[in-house]
Amino acid sequence: MRPHVELIQEGDLCWHDAELARGEGKVRQRNLSYDEEDGSASTRVIFDGAWHRPAGYHHADIEWYVMQGAVKLGDRMLGKGTYLRAPAGLHVPEMSVREGTEVLIFREYGDWGFSVSKKDRADFVPRGGNTASNEPGELTVVDSSRMEWMPNVYEGDTQRFLKLKLLYHDPAPEDDNNKGFVTMLAWAPPGWSDNRMVHHPVFEEAYSLEGNLVYNFGTLDAGTYFFRPAKVKHGHFVAGEERGWAGFFRLDGSLINWITTDEQVIIRGNNVNYDLATQAPLIAGIPVRSKSSGEWDLDGW
Ligand SMILES: [Fe+2]
Repeated sequence: MRPHVELIQEGDLCWHDAELARGEGKVRQRNLSYDEEDGSASTRVIFDGAWHRPAGYHHADIEWYVMQGAVKLGDRMLGKGTYLRAPAGLHVPEMSVREGTEVLIFREYGDWGFSVSKKDRADFVPRGGNTASNEPGELTVVDSSRMEWMPNVYEGDTQRFLKLKLLYHDPAPEDDNNKGFVTMLAWAPPGWSDNRMVHHPVFEEAYSLEGNLVYNFGTLDAGTYFFRPAKVKHGHFVAGEERGWAGFFRLDGSLINWITTDEQVIIRGNNVNYDLATQAPLIAGIPVRSKSSGEWDLDGW
């Protein structure tokens, strides 16, 4: 259970001690989205001092995206723009992080637990929590700064103008039990727009890296974030004229855009003993918003 967050500005949020079990160093995190049932979370993390953790395995599927600074994973140096993913139970080498490094860290299907170990968890479940595959799981490390933007592979006529860098896609064949988890960078070029509403069968979340995108829930600019459960409509997009908009995206399955046009939002009822202008009830299901997001005008509700 993750709440519908749409949208928040990370600068509005408070800091917590980072949930980086078994590591040594001064680290803090902001919780962008948190599942209090299974411990899944999406966090923005800043290393105020050097940090180190011995080799072992995570209790959740883990993804890191380095926004600035440097991370050493075993013998590999990971710089700005590097993405890494380790499924739960997979042995990962020791890690060291330089002071001042900033990252996004995502946990899925588990909590912050980390076991110091020289090998995989004994009952290691391959690939991660979103797949029915029995293939061996593996460490994924991708330097996005060395990748070219590729054309959008997902449906929708104007959506084809979006550009993607695919960081991770569950390679197992898709079926009812395996939806094909996707993590990617997406870029809406300057002036890109799509005035339709879409929804899809999978969750979608994004952290805004640069530029801006105006849409039905407000404006996405650097440091904004949303977590959108499956089937929530969104749209009426207009990307900024100068740089467009770029974000880090995760979806728990392949994206299918179901499209709504000529949408109308109609709310009917008689206000028996209250003033409509000042005492109207809130709508159940209104998304989580932080103070910098302003009011939502119910576009697309
Ligand atoms: Fe979407």
